[in-house]
Amino acid sequence: MHSPAANRYDSPNFYRRCGHSGVRLPLISLGLWHNFGGVDSYENARAIACHAFDLGITCFDLANNYGPPDGSAEATFGKILREELGQWRDEMIITTKAGYYMWPGPYGEWGSRKYLLASLDQSLKRMGLPYVDIFYSHRFDPETPLEETMGALAHAVRSGKAVYAGISNYPAAETARAAKILRELGTPCLLHQPRYSMLDRWVEPQLLATLAAEGIGATVFSPLAKGLLTDRYFKGIPADSRIARDQRFLRPEHVTDDVLAKTRKLNDLAQSRTQTLAQMALAWVLRHPVVTSALIGASKVQQVDDCVGAVKNLNFSVEELAHIESILGNKP
Ligand SMILES: NC(=O)c1ccc[n+]([C@@H]2O[C@H](COP(=O)([O-])OP(=O)(O)OC[C@H]3O[C@@H](n4cnc5c(N)ncnc54)[C@H](OP(=O)(O)O)[C@@H]3O)[C@@H](O)[C@H]2O)c1
Repeated sequence: MHSPAANRYDSPNFYRRCGHSGVRLPLISLGLWHNFGGVDSYENARAIACHAFDLGITCFDLANNYGPPDGSAEATFGKILREELGQWRDEMIITTKAGYYMWPGPYGEWGSRKYLLASLDQSLKRMGLPYVDIFYSHRFDPETPLEETMGALAHAVRSGKAVYAGISNYPAAETARAAKILRELGTPCLLHQPRYSMLDRWVEPQLLATLAAEGIGATVFSPLAKGLLTDRYFKGIPADSRIARDQRFLRPEHVTDDVLAKTRKLNDLAQSRTQTLAQMALAWVLRHPVVTSALIGASKVQQVDDCVGAVKNLNFSVEELAHIESILGNKP
């Protein structure tokens, strides 16, 4: 068993309340989408997860399909729990999701009660857990009645297989409807998980205000734009980078001249704040009080250290915020 750092909870400000709930989440959460699959080094995955826990990161984010192959990140995390961290289960928020393609046939994706509940059982089996802390509907299903999808989340909570219900990637209007249904069912929506970064701001016009009004927290994923909002690609594509290792979601053509010009200027600004670009990008998403946690990925232990260092400076002056907007090409 891992021996966690005794000082891991020495920074109380590292936790932020999630909407109108009793739960506080770490400002930085760890996602297991990449680097925890069956194709990845178990030793590296183990080291990243244990080090994150040592730093006070209590929230570990999974989904049924994380890998590759699908399901293998949950199996890896189950092994880490068995061998290293399981003794501290009550100190952790462990999440999983169902919504994207997982198995063939009509019941292996989207939002039916049949799929969600079967998938949750499979996830629990892979992780060797009796329950997860948050079970998310991974995406809105336009063809399934929302009452059915939310009813499945509520059932998961009432049956003791999930402590809280969450939704991910839901647009603002569907979020408000989902929140109402879950409230009426007595299992309020704890958390929304949307994508949000300086390079992807779809949540800003409506969703953040909806979450604030509904008392729902936000754990925002890909706050580093999968690595683009770091110094990772300033000198080409490193052999150990996501683009070099796994081109399913991030490819060389995403590293455009425009992205590089903007991120180099952002990097200069970050340096003037004595932060790395990654740290400034995380502080920037956390400037909204409704954002409970920035959900990062990491391929190395040192990246987790760097990301957690973001919380040393979460403040932005009006001038800095305006400078960021001008770098991003937005009008003041
Ligand atoms: N709900 C959903 O639909 C959904 C979708 C996507 C993701 N997610 C969740 O969000 C989590 C995070 O997504 P993400 O991995 O795309 O997030 P991200 O934090 O935007 O990108 C992580 C990548 O950035 C690089 N990186 C991280 N810290 C760095 C640092 N300090 N300096 C330089 N580079 C650094 C690493 O790239 P290299 O690998 O190149 O080193 C790392 O793999 C996922 O694991 C998953 O849990 C949810």
